[in-house]
Formats: sequence, C-alpha cells, structure tokens
Amino acid sequence: MSSNLESDTISLDTSFEATIQIQGRTYQQWAVDHGTSFGPVDEYERDRQETQHQIFKLVFDRRLIFPPVNNPRKILDCGYGSASWATDVAMSYPRCEVIGVDITPHMMPDDPPQNLILQVDDLNEPFTFRTNEFDFIHSRNVVTGINKGRWPSYVKDCARVLRPGGWLQMVEIYHNVQSDNGTMTDGHALREMSTKFLLAAENSKDLRAPLALESFMRGAGMVDVAGRMIPLPLNGWSINPKEREIGERFNYSYKAAMSGHMRIPLTERLHMTDDQFNDLMQRATEELDNIGLKPYVGLYICIGRKAI
Ligand SMILES: C[S@@+](CC[C@H](N)C(=O)[O-])C[C@H]1O[C@@H](n2cnc3c(N)ncnc32)[C@H](O)[C@@H]1O
Repeated sequence: MSSNLESDTISLDTSFEATIQIQGRTYQQWAVDHGTSFGPVDEYERDRQETQHQIFKLVFDRRLIFPPVNNPRKILDCGYGSASWATDVAMSYPRCEVIGVDITPHMMPDDPPQNLILQVDDLNEPFTFRTNEFDFIHSRNVVTGINKGRWPSYVKDCARVLRPGGWLQMVEIYHNVQSDNGTMTDGHALREMSTKFLLAAENSKDLRAPLALESFMRGAGMVDVAGRMIPLPLNGWSINPKEREIGERFNYSYKAAMSGHMRIPLTERLHMTDDQFNDLMQRATEELDNIGLKPYVGLYICIGRKAI
C-alpha cells in the first residue's frame, strides 16, 4: 500500500481520515481496527509530541542528525507524527527534500515548509520507495506501531532505500519504567503498568525492540553501527542540572503518553475496565511525582551506514 493524500482515491483517503472517540480522546479508526498503532491523534497528542521533541533536542544538545551527513538531498522520516523533527530538518536543509510517512494524517502541521512532503503509508508494508533513494533515514518512537516480527525486514527496507554510504538513525524508548536506586517493587503501580503494557502488546508488537536496534542494523548488512542507551529521568530527581530539567519536562510528557497510548492495549487486550485502568493510571501518575523513587526509562539510540 502506498497512498499520497493529495493523489489517491477518495475512498482510501477517507478510510485513513475516519476517527473514533474513546474516553474523551480521538484515535484513528483505521489504526485501531487494524491494530497498527494505539496512540491518539488529537491536538493534545500533537502538543505532547511537540513537547517531547523539544525535550529530545535538550537531550541531544539540539542535534537532529547524529552521523556525519553532509548536504543531504533526500531524507525520509518514518512515522513523522506531529512532524516536529521533520519540520526542523526541512528548515535546516532548505535544498533537501524531506519526505515523511505516517499511518495517520491527523497531526500534519497546518503550514509545513515547502520542501517537506507528508504521505500516508503503513511502515509494516514493504517500502515502495526506490532502492538507493535517500541520503538519510530517521525513525523515532515507532515501537508501538511496528508489528512483531516486522523489525528485521523494516530495518532491511530502510537499508535498501538508503543510497550506499547513507545513514539510518533510530531512536526508541523502552517502555519499562525503572528506578535508579532500586526502590521500585512489584507493589508499585509503575511496575504493574509497565508489566501490563508489555504483556498486552506481546502478541502484536515487540516493545523490547529498542534493545535490539544494533542487531537489526547489523542483520541488514549495515556498517559502522553504533548504539547507546541514555536513561531519561521521569521527574526532577537528578542532581545534574540538565538531567533535572529533562526529568521535570519529561514528567508531563510521559504522563500524557501513558494515559493516551496504554488505554487500548490494557482495556481491549487485557480486559481491564475503564475504572481499573483509570485507577492504575492515577496511582502510576502519583508515583511519577515521587522524587525518592528516581524513576526513568531507557532511551535507545542507534546509527548505522549502508556499505558503499
Ligand atoms: C509516538 S509518535 C512519534 C512521532 C515522531 N516520530 C516523533 O518522534 O516525534 C509515533 C508515530 O508513528 C506513527 N506510526 C506508528 N505505526 C506506524 C506504521 N505502522 N506506519 C506508519 N506510521 C506509524 C503513528 O501514527 C505516530 O504518528
């Protein structure tokens, strides 16, 4: 499947545009029906993604592209969401064509830069882009949307459409909340929430994929593969000023992500009632404000180059 909103048939466009309301949030009907992705697509989510993008800029010292990419002509952003990263990149490289692909068109910016082209497509389907087409590919926070078993071929697709010498950059959060001082127990709501989220997604998604990005890239024949994990504090517990600021800002963003992205898996797959889900979220949210718990999640970053 490959669909450009501007040019494809009306029926295809309409099926991607339909939304469904669940507990006051707006979701894309197609993604929910096909089990593609379970994140909301409303203004609140757009705002959350924009905030998270600003946090990532703080984490990465404002760098959008990590490997040495000079004068790129064509860049692909997989799962662009609110297009915050794609917009920043398009504005930083005005002579470069930036193509964004997402299953939902709902969070497209109203006035994107002219060199940013946003398309609707499913990353779980084989890529329809030409071989050797892109200088750089970015894939960030799509772990809840890539189907289980698709990861190796997803990374191979990225490698195929990169030009020889082109770079792939992947950034993913492992959604398993940890405590930096080991004080989290099985009695904590954050532990229960993480365990339930991993369990709920187990048959359809691989939420542990962030830990395997390096092996996916090597399996796709990429070279100069380098990965690292950065602990992202979930509140202001760190004594390091930069980490404290990241934690304080990420606290809001992660709370919004929990309630928006975990509702469908936990209620539909694990059959929690709305009251049970809301109660778990409330307890988990209170724990996220507990400085003494030193909560964090791992942010996994990996880059790799297509061999020349
Ligand atoms: C959490 S958002 C991240 C957005 C952006 N990459 C960022 O980091 O700011 C994940 C995005 O990936 C999209 N997505 C998830 N699974 C997808 C799939 N199979 N095909 C296309 N887009 C997908 C979602 O619709 C959503 O917009």
